[in-house]
Amino acid sequence: SGKTGKQALGDFVVALARFRLKGKPQELAEKLAAEFKPTPYLAEIGASGAFVYFNLQTEALFRTVLDQINTQTHLTPDEDHSALSHFANLSLSDAGADKLPEGLSLAKKNGYGTNKSGKGKSVIVEFSSPNIAKPFHAGHLRSTIIGAFLANLYEANGWDVLRMNYLGDWGKQFGILAVGFERYGSEEELEKDAITHLYDVYVKINKDGETDESIHDRAREFFVKMEAGDEHAVGLWKKFRDLSIVKYKETYARLNIWFNVYSGESQVSQEAQKHALDQLQGSGIVEESQGALIVDLKKYKLEKTIVRKKDGTSVYITRDIAGAAERFDKYNFDKMVYVVASQQDLHLAQFFKVLDLMGYPWANTLQHVNFGMVQGMSTRKGTAVFLEQILDESKRVMHEVMQKNEEKYKAIEDPQYTSDKLGITAVKVQDMSGKRINNYEFKWERMTSFEGDTGPYLQYAHVRLSSVERKNAPAVVLPPPAERSAAINVALLSEPKAREVILLLASYPDVVKAAFKSFEPATICTYAFRLSHVISSAWETLIVKGQPHDLALARLWLYVSAKDVLGNALRLLTLQPLDRM
Ligand code: ARG
Repeated sequence: SGKTGKQALGDFVVALARFRLKGKPQELAEKLAAEFKPTPYLAEIGASGAFVYFNLQTEALFRTVLDQINTQTHLTPDEDHSALSHFANLSLSDAGADKLPEGLSLAKKNGYGTNKSGKGKSVIVEFSSPNIAKPFHAGHLRSTIIGAFLANLYEANGWDVLRMNYLGDWGKQFGILAVGFERYGSEEELEKDAITHLYDVYVKINKDGETDESIHDRAREFFVKMEAGDEHAVGLWKKFRDLSIVKYKETYARLNIWFNVYSGESQVSQEAQKHALDQLQGSGIVEESQGALIVDLKKYKLEKTIVRKKDGTSVYITRDIAGAAERFDKYNFDKMVYVVASQQDLHLAQFFKVLDLMGYPWANTLQHVNFGMVQGMSTRKGTAVFLEQILDESKRVMHEVMQKNEEKYKAIEDPQYTSDKLGITAVKVQDMSGKRINNYEFKWERMTSFEGDTGPYLQYAHVRLSSVERKNAPAVVLPPPAERSAAINVALLSEPKAREVILLLASYPDVVKAAFKSFEPATICTYAFRLSHVISSAWETLIVKGQPHDLALARLWLYVSAKDVLGNALRLLTLQPLDRM
C-alpha cells in the first residue's frame, strides 16, 4: 500500500506498551480486537502482537476530510478580522504600514489547517530589521523569511498578529554616513536607489576612516547632534531613512511580505531610555565604570553589558530595553517574538534578563527565535551583496529553465511574474527546509532544480494539480463547491493510493499545530514535500482521463482538495502557489 512497517497494518497503529496498563499488552490487544463492533466511522480494530491497529470506514473517512477541506476553503465566508483585531486601531494609525497584498489568502484566517487556539491573544512578531546604510545580508534574509512565516503561523493558530520591522536606523554609523555623504554623496543617486548609494558612500568613507581618525571623531559629533535633536543632523538622517524605506518596501512586496509597523531604533524615545536608565539605577543593578554605566549579569551566567556610553549616548541594548517597555505600553501584547540570528543570542538573553530584573511582569512573554548562518550567499559570479541581486539572478535562472519548454512557455501569461515567483520560492524553500538553527550553504544548482526537495519542485506539484481540472474539462467538471458532497460518490476512492493521500490531507491541521510548537518552518516544508511525493506517485494509478464519469469525478475532487491543502501549506510558508509554469 506504500506504507511501511507497522503503519502497513492500518490507518492508525498504537503500541499498547506505551501506556501503563494492567495486564499483558498482547492479551489486551486481542481482547480489544475480539470485542470490537464496527461503527459508522471505524471499520476494524485488529491486534498484531502488542499493537492495536485501526481502520476507518472508507466512505466516512473520505467524506469527512473532503467535506471539511471543501467547506473551509470554498464555503466559509472570510471573517472580517480587522474589526476584531487587538491591534486594529493602533496599527492603522501608524504611518507607513504596508497594504495587505491583494488576494492574500491568509487573510482568510479560517481556512483548512487553521485553528482557534490563540483566539483573543495578541502577539508582536519583530522580524527582518535590516540596518539602513549597510547591506541587507543573509542574516536579514533569514529573519525576513522565517519571521514572515512565524507571523502567518501565529495567525493560522488564531492569534492577532502585529508584524513589526525594527530598522537599524540610529547610531554612530549615521554619523559616518553623514560625513561620507558630504564627501561622496549625490542627491540624484540617493533619489534613484537610496540603499545602493548609501552603501557605496558607507564603504568609501569607512575606507578613508581606516587611516583618518578624524572621520570617526566627526561621526561621533554628528551622532551626538542627532541625539540632541539638531535640525540639520536629524533632517539628513530622516531623508536617508525615508528613501531607504521606500526601497525596502519594494523588495518586501516582491517577497509577498508586509509589515504593520516600520519601527526602528530611532523610534525609541529619549524619555523612555532615560526612564529605563533611571529605573535601572534606582534598582541598584547598574554600576559605573570609567564614566559608562554597566549592568553586571554574572549572577545569571551572562556577560556584563554597557547601557550608557561615557559620552552619554545610548547604545543598542538600551534602545531594546526601553523599546520593549514602550511597545508594551502602546500595544499591550500577550507575547512578543524577536526573530534574530543566533549571533545575537547573548544580546537578547541580556536584555530579556535586564527587563526581568527591572520587574516587568511581561518580560517572560518575550521570546527569541534564532537561526543559523548562510554560507556563500552571492551571485553565481560571486559578486552580490544585495538581496535584490540574488532575487534577480534566481529569477533569471528560472526563466532560462522555463524557456527550454517552448510549448509550455507560450501558454504562460506572464513569464516575468512566473519566473520571479519561482526564483523566490527557490530561495525561501532552501532557507526553510532545514532546522532553523543549522547553518546551510547557499547552492544555486540545487535550490533551482526541479528535482529533489526544492522550491521549484513544490511549485511544479501545485501546477500539476491545478492542471487536472483544466485538462479534463469539459468531459469532467466538478460541480460547484456547495453541491460536491452530495453529487460525488467518494466510496469509489478505494485504492490504497487514494487512502494514502486522504490520510495525509487529514493530518494537515495537526501539522500546523506541531509547527507552532517547534516554530520550525521545516515541519511545514516536510509536509509539503511528502504530499507532493505521494501525489506524484498517484498519477499513474488514480487516473482521471477516460474513466467512468463518477470515478473520474471522485478522483478529480481528491486532486482538487490536495491542491487546496498544498496551496495552504505553501501560503503559510509565505509562498505564492502557481497555477501554470
Ligand atoms: N538591526 C539588527 C541587526 O541587523 C537586528 C535587530 C534585531 N532586533 C532587536 N530588537 N535587537 O543586527
